[in-house]
Amino acid sequence: MSEQRVIAGNWKMHHGPSSTRAFFRDFAPDLGESPPTLIVFPPALSLAAAVESRGGRPEVHLGVQNIHWEEKGAFTGESSVSMVLDAGATYALVGHSERRHVFGETDGEVALKVYACVSSGLTPIICVGETLDERRAGRLEEVIERQLRAALGGLTDRLGAEFMVAYEPVWAIGTGETATPADATGAHTVLRGVLRNTLEEGDAEEVPILYGGSVKPGNAAELLSAAEVDGVLVGGASLDAESFAQIAESA
Ligand code: PGA
Repeated sequence: MSEQRVIAGNWKMHHGPSSTRAFFRDFAPDLGESPPTLIVFPPALSLAAAVESRGGRPEVHLGVQNIHWEEKGAFTGESSVSMVLDAGATYALVGHSERRHVFGETDGEVALKVYACVSSGLTPIICVGETLDERRAGRLEEVIERQLRAALGGLTDRLGAEFMVAYEPVWAIGTGETATPADATGAHTVLRGVLRNTLEEGDAEEVPILYGGSVKPGNAAELLSAAEVDGVLVGGASLDAESFAQIAESA
């Protein structure tokens, strides 16, 4: 397990600039002595409002929900790593299940994005997870191993621990269905195994592995206490400042 505890909120296509400012006005978790790393992923259009309004305690890091691998060019609608860093974000979600399943993002594209982030100092959170059909067919391990191996494929020997992984079973995202702590531990153990086969020994243990999928104030503490769960990636319950604060407090 990583020493680092991470609480991340993926707002998806919610909270424009005005409601982003309102969120940060109200977000005031009581975090005690060893606060977790807090990261919020607002829509790209709300990043400037988040940079301007996140001030004060606790420290909140910012990220984007998607990234392009090219530095610049004719890629309508996309943002590059250097633009994102310039705008004040330091993290990027890569390969979120909605990017893969709604927008058709492939393992190969995920690998290009991870490589672009890691080579330029933006920390990617690589998202992997099986669909319900894959799970029922007993293919959970095969699917998440393939996704993580592919995502790391472009990096070979130059890779350290400068990224995170999020296990998000597709059937648990936005559905109210949550994996049990034991399910999360099982999948995270598979992913830790891939990291051990890919990275130097010390680095493999340092990479935080987050669980995501219907995390709420009522189940966060139990999930966060499961073996190999280093943090959570929260969608719906991160939109409300109070419920996201409660989740942060349970770390
Ligand atoms: P959810 O989303 O918490 O609303 O299930 C999680 C995610 O997609 O990151």
